[in-house]
Amino acid sequence: GKTLPVYTREEVSRHKTSAERIWVTYRNGVYDITDFVDKHPGGNKILLAAGSALEPFWALYSVHNQEHVYEILAEYQIGEL
Ligand code: HEM
Repeated sequence: GKTLPVYTREEVSRHKTSAERIWVTYRNGVYDITDFVDKHPGGNKILLAAGSALEPFWALYSVHNQEHVYEILAEYQIGEL
């Protein structure tokens, strides 16, 4: 299978703006969501998770607990923790 680069949470935390690219984690995956931010149906709220984990936010907004949302996320994976 394909091997993705491994990043630390500290490195992910340094990617919070479009200039630095916007990264998030979900489980052990690292995602560069910069190009999705403007397409997000929930608007700029997505930026609350910039540089950190999606889980606390998706626990609050359970609209994300759907197969089609995980399929979108998978398109943006760049690495693993
Ligand atoms: C809705 C994707 C992060 C807040 C949605 C929907 C998608 C989506 C596909 C529409 C779901 C549907 O109606 O079937 C994503 C992805 C994210 C992300 C791929 C991360 C990469 C976040 C974060 C927050 C958030 C971090 C909050 C802090 C919302 C809200 C809605 C929503 C409030 C409902 C919008 C509405 O229907 O009015 N998101 N989301 N999302 N998202 Fe996200």
